[in-house]
Amino acid sequence: MDQLNEKFSGLTFGERLGFKKTDDGFATKAIHAGQEPEQWKCRAVVPLISLSTTFKQFAPAQHAGYEYSRSGNPTRNVLETCLAALDNAKFALTFASGLGAQTAIISTLKTGDAIITGDDVYGGTNRLFRNLAVNMGMEVIFVDMTDLKNLERAMKENVKLVWLETPTNPSMKVIDIENVCKFVHENSKAIVLVDNTFLSPYFQRPIDLGADAVTYSLTKYMNGHADVVMGSIATSNSKLYESLKFYQNATGIVPSPFDCYLVNRSLKTLALRMEHHFKTSVAIAKYLETHDRVERVMHPALPSHPQYDITLKQTYGHSGIFSFYLRNGNLESSTKFLQALKIFMIAESLGGFESLVELPSVMTHASVPEEQRAELGINDGLIRVSVGLENAKDLIEDFENAFKVI
Ligand SMILES: Cc1ncc(COP(=O)(O)O)c(C=O)c1O
Repeated sequence: MDQLNEKFSGLTFGERLGFKKTDDGFATKAIHAGQEPEQWKCRAVVPLISLSTTFKQFAPAQHAGYEYSRSGNPTRNVLETCLAALDNAKFALTFASGLGAQTAIISTLKTGDAIITGDDVYGGTNRLFRNLAVNMGMEVIFVDMTDLKNLERAMKENVKLVWLETPTNPSMKVIDIENVCKFVHENSKAIVLVDNTFLSPYFQRPIDLGADAVTYSLTKYMNGHADVVMGSIATSNSKLYESLKFYQNATGIVPSPFDCYLVNRSLKTLALRMEHHFKTSVAIAKYLETHDRVERVMHPALPSHPQYDITLKQTYGHSGIFSFYLRNGNLESSTKFLQALKIFMIAESLGGFESLVELPSVMTHASVPEEQRAELGINDGLIRVSVGLENAKDLIEDFENAFKVI
């Protein structure tokens, strides 16, 4: 046993860099939580895909837990149980997309309510707030939450939801989740929700840090194979859960059982994949930081990052996503550079096994108003990278060759 302990006492990559110590049980939960073979008569080790839209009842209104597949589905249930466990939450719900999950959250608010949101959120979230929420009579206040004073100034009676994404998209600013939650809970009745898509629960667990709920675009790291669009929300707040469950069924924004099966399968390798993304993205970011064609690299795991200390304090490591500015970059040079890449593909999205690059100003964040983009520094020289699972050396060589073209 001593020998075994010795063998497993080695530090993880994150621990070696000074990040929080990893919870050893994560991979075990990802593999076993909600997966009990005993729940199926055949004792299947891999959960079954239940495609049936309806379920035979014993007598009118007497059923075995399922009545219609929109309101509840056995395969979806397996995935939701596993997702709740990974965030140390009591409940989780899945939706047809990440934005579907966000629509359900907005549905729980009323006309006259206000939302305070980080200023640098996913372009689709920004669009949802500016159009749907505002059209429903809600007030949406965008603030830079890296400085708590901005949040303090914006807080008022009708704020019901404080929304943050950290690290932010695409500027990679890091927000202190614990501080934000403490301030909001001491000064208002609002709930704090964190979009944790960029890190996954493997690297950051917002509920442990005081958040009321956490949302994901499961489309990204959680599924990790670029073949499913899905979203989720996890919470331990039973009132919020009941309300979201109502809207999951009432609005019908549900995922298919087959997609639930795929995401549940992908969670089994989440820990392994995230470690690989982390190591490779740090290696590439370090390489870029020394390149004379690069003006600045924004990677939270590099000591040059402005919120490096908060990163080490609240996360267990970092994923494959980061951004950098080309020196004197403009639409022409950025386009030329991205087109010269052979392994990295120019594409939206992130978190898959394949490495991607994109230009937020004209792609993921094109829907963000021009003046807000300018304030956030989202210009044509800003490149967002999603490092996949290929060999680090090949990816660095790919960048090296592309720099020669501009
Ligand atoms: C941080 C973040 N949240 C939410 C979403 C929306 O998720 P989906 O595309 O699954 O609707 C995205 C999509 O890119 C995202 O990057």
